[in-house]
Amino acid sequence: MSQTSPHGHAVSPDTLVVSAGRPPREHDAPVNPPIVLSSTYFGTGTPVPGERGYGRYSNPTWDPFEQALAELEGAELPALVFGSGLASVMAALSLVPAGGVVVMPRHSYQGSLLLAAEEAANGRFSVRTVDIDQTGDVIAQLDGASMLWVESPTNPMLEVADIAALAEAAHAAGALVVADNTFSTPLVTRPLNLGADVVVHSVTKYLAGHSDVVLGAAVTSDPELRNRLLRYRSLHGAVAGPFEVWLALRGLRTLALRMERSQATAMNLARRLQTLPQVEHVRYPGLPEDPGHARAAAQMSGFGSILCIEVAGGAAAAEKVAEAVELWLPATSLGGVESLIERRRRQPGEPHTVPEGLLRLSVGIENVEDLWGDLEQALTR
Ligand SMILES: Cc1ncc(COP(=O)(O)O)c(C=O)c1O
Repeated sequence: MSQTSPHGHAVSPDTLVVSAGRPPREHDAPVNPPIVLSSTYFGTGTPVPGERGYGRYSNPTWDPFEQALAELEGAELPALVFGSGLASVMAALSLVPAGGVVVMPRHSYQGSLLLAAEEAANGRFSVRTVDIDQTGDVIAQLDGASMLWVESPTNPMLEVADIAALAEAAHAAGALVVADNTFSTPLVTRPLNLGADVVVHSVTKYLAGHSDVVLGAAVTSDPELRNRLLRYRSLHGAVAGPFEVWLALRGLRTLALRMERSQATAMNLARRLQTLPQVEHVRYPGLPEDPGHARAAAQMSGFGSILCIEVAGGAAAAEKVAEAVELWLPATSLGGVESLIERRRRQPGEPHTVPEGLLRLSVGIENVEDLWGDLEQALTR
């Protein structure tokens, strides 16, 4: 899907978030797509290619968002929107053949890890976990693999994967490559261009951007893979509500502005947090001393808006910080306009290699000095 304006001119991604998925330019036509509330369509009601049929197969409100996301990710085919990020993760995992092997980052999003572990427990495939930033070690684990799962930066350890090198090695080993691009968004990393076969998203996060919807998406340029993902969505009913998808497109319009602001603030806060004695370690790929910095600088067009800190005093001290903030919201999730803070090991499914005292900070778009002042008082109290 080419990144062009309706007149055929190439446009940049920060324009595309505003212009993609608009209705045709016709006199008196609305400039925003309508919300279509219908569970069925005149016609056969069967899943015939090119026909809507029934609400579990398609909805006109999904189309503009699916078009826009495909253009942003540089895909040749429309994206597929799902009822949640995890539903799109499961759809991608359904591409693994029975008895196959999935190679996955040790610090993938814990829901993705739990889902893969459940499939493994049911005997559908086996899982090999790896440190995704250790390229040589990952490649050594690809022998006989059917799928390489990539998350970059990882949630919440913020390790950066060399997507191009890993995708090349995975393809040589005969494995499909799926990239969870939730943390980066296509404005920062475009995994399809780096060799991934499928990109998945928790649209809940940055793409929708306002912590008011739960949605997912999968994107690919491969017609066969797209058909299989579509079939999974239609059969398993992992579908999205039209209103949520409309809200996601509305949220997408400001993605570039939100990312610009929140990434600049994350960089600023990361540097200042390093100066506090209460903070033992700051994880942020934008910091020159971060182990993922050089790779992030080469592969990403920014460093993202998530940073993690480890505070002196471990879990108890970290909990106190999350309780002491007054502007930051102590809540799970990320990628909204409001800044969130969470001690990740609160989540029972979080891998035990994530430090007990690690706080994940999802930087929003509030004033940087207000965010810093609140963090500083909570950390030094
Ligand atoms: C990286 C990543 N992938 C997938 C998901 C799952 O998305 P959802 O919560 O929309 O199902 C999340 C949710 O936190 C996530 O952070």
